Order: sequence, then C-alpha cells, then structure tokens
Amino acid sequence: MSRRRTYVVATVLVALSCAAMGWAAVRPGDGIGHRTWVAAGDALRHVGDWYRSGPADRQPDWDAASLALQGADASRGPDLMIAHGCGSCHVIPGVSGARGTVGPSLAGLRHRSYVAGVLPNDPGSLVRWLMNPTVHAPQTAMPDLGVTERQARDMAAYLYTLRGG
Ligand code: HEC
Repeated sequence: MSRRRTYVVATVLVALSCAAMGWAAVRPGDGIGHRTWVAAGDALRHVGDWYRSGPADRQPDWDAASLALQGADASRGPDLMIAHGCGSCHVIPGVSGARGTVGPSLAGLRHRSYVAGVLPNDPGSLVRWLMNPTVHAPQTAMPDLGVTERQARDMAAYLYTLRGG
C-alpha cells in the first residue's frame, strides 16, 4: 500500500468514526442526526474527489496529452494553415508563403513552456488556443479564425513536429 493510499484510508476511517459518534450523540428523528449524516457524506465525497484528482503539483499528464491528439493527421496541417492564412502572421517551416512577422515564428513551438504566454504548452491547450485565441488572451492580435476542433488538432499535431526555433 502506498503512503498516500494509507493516508486516505486513515482519513476515511476517522471521518466514518466521527460520523458514527455524531450519529450516536443525537437522538434519532430530531433533525440534527440527519444533518450530521449529510455533512459526513459531503466530507467523504470531498476526500474521494481529492483522491481522484491527485496532488495539485502533479506532473503534466502526457498520456492525456497524447490522447488529446490521437487520430489527428499532422500531414493536413500545412494546407489547413494556408487556408486559414496563418502564414500572414507567422513564420511556419514547411508551410509555403508563411513568412509573417506579426506573431512569433512557430518553429520549435514544442520547446516553449507556454502557448502565447497564457496557456501551458500541452496539446489540449494548443488546440483550445487555435480555436479561440481571444478567449484566452482578450488583447491578443491573433484573431479567432473559425478553426474547428478537428482542424485545430491536425494543425497542432503538425506544429509539434517542428524543431528548432
Ligand atoms: C493576424 C495575425 C495572426 C494570424 C492570422 C494568426 N496568428 Fe497566431 N499569433 C499571432 C500573434 C500576434 C500571436 C502572439 C499572441 C500573444 O502572445 O498574445 C500568435 C500566437 C500564436 C501561437 C502561440 C505561439 C507561441 O510561441 O506561444 C500559435 C501556436 C499560433 N499563433 C498559431 C496560429 C495558427 C495555427 C494560425 C492559423 C490558424 C494563426 N496563429 C493565425 C498572430 C496571428
């Protein structure tokens, strides 16, 4: 048993015995017993939620990240980016005519910690950025271009293949 699991089990046992003592201390049917029971149930639920969500400082979940791009087709990225005019603002290696300097070069995007300085650089966040940049950075010069989730996933998959930068 891991230490964390032991800790959780101990917490649950303490919560249960508190609930049992509370229950025993009040006469049945006077309403307080019921409230105690509900409060104890809530407490238990919180412990369960906390256990499932894991510690706050957990490492990036790369499994979830790769799942987020599963089924994406990186080879569609360049045409999609030409169609959306991304190259008028960005240098994008492998995308013809993409020599814009309004936004940063997208070469080596995978090495950056943040997407546009506002979202952690993981596939899910990159997809969300491409779909709705102004939701995440209201002042940004990058416009919402009506990119669908599918298109964003294909573009993100391509962008993550880019080295250098
Ligand atoms: C009108 C210009 C413009 C267009 C068109 C545009 N962008 Fe941007 N983009 C920007 C600017 C400016 C930033 C910097 C955003 C910021 O920091 O607020 C940016 C940021 C980004 C970033 C984050 C880069 C980083 O280093 O963090 C990515 C990825 C990106 N754009 C991809 C795209 C893609 C893909 C398209 C086409 C669907 C596109 N952009 C279209 C201007 C544009």
